[in-house]
Amino acid sequence: MTARRTLIAGNWKMNGLSADAKALAGGLAEKLKAAGEVNFEMLVCPPAIMIPVVAAAISGSTMQLGGQDNHMNEKGAHTGDTSAAMLKDAGCGYAIVGHSERRTDHGESDEVVKAKAAAAQANGLVAVVCIGETEAQRDAGKTLDVNGSQIAGSVPDGSTSANTVIAYEPVWAIGTGRTPTSAEVQDVHAFIRAELAKKIGQAEADKTRILYGGSMNPKNAKELLALADVDGGLIGGASLKVDDFWAVAQSA
Ligand code: G3P
Repeated sequence: MTARRTLIAGNWKMNGLSADAKALAGGLAEKLKAAGEVNFEMLVCPPAIMIPVVAAAISGSTMQLGGQDNHMNEKGAHTGDTSAAMLKDAGCGYAIVGHSERRTDHGESDEVVKAKAAAAQANGLVAVVCIGETEAQRDAGKTLDVNGSQIAGSVPDGSTSANTVIAYEPVWAIGTGRTPTSAEVQDVHAFIRAELAKKIGQAEADKTRILYGGSMNPKNAKELLALADVDGGLIGGASLKVDDFWAVAQSA
């Protein structure tokens, strides 16, 4: 088995103001510095407008910084959007793309997500490509079909383990306090890796980190992170408090 460094990623979504961002990022950076060598990588993805505040607050720590979305185009007439180059320029190393909230709120298709992931990769960012089934799809027994087709449709050809992370987020588990069983999570992650291998080859798929997202918290993180094909977490609610997010990271 190939060693994959655990990634503990916080998706702050549309929460907080700059003072909150500064306090949260600064508090986490202090904990990371004090901890010295750790066996995980930590990432925060604040709202775009707070990226500079967070970049300053984490400076001098190993905390990684990411955007929550980027446009598929390099520049131009796209009011309100942020390019991958702008994220990179602001100090980001990662960009989340294809989160189910964007797929729903902004009607983003697999094709759009793939183009955004490609733009992130082309600008030196690691694309965190989100996939996951809805509750209706799960109830209809379509979990694997949906995730397989999202991998096929949302991951750019030629992706590598160095520029791609997959986040499996069952839509029905996001912000609900509900999670699949550990056996279900492991089964879906193993399936995702196999589907990824069809696309980027087994060797790269074996090195690619697949995160679980959806109500991960300090209570369930240890069990989820111990699963063979779970290589970290993409955490929403529990990433908004220093102690909670740090406790999740400590479970790695
Ligand atoms: O991207 C993270 C996410 O959607 C999970 O959110 O609040 O269930 O941890 P939450």
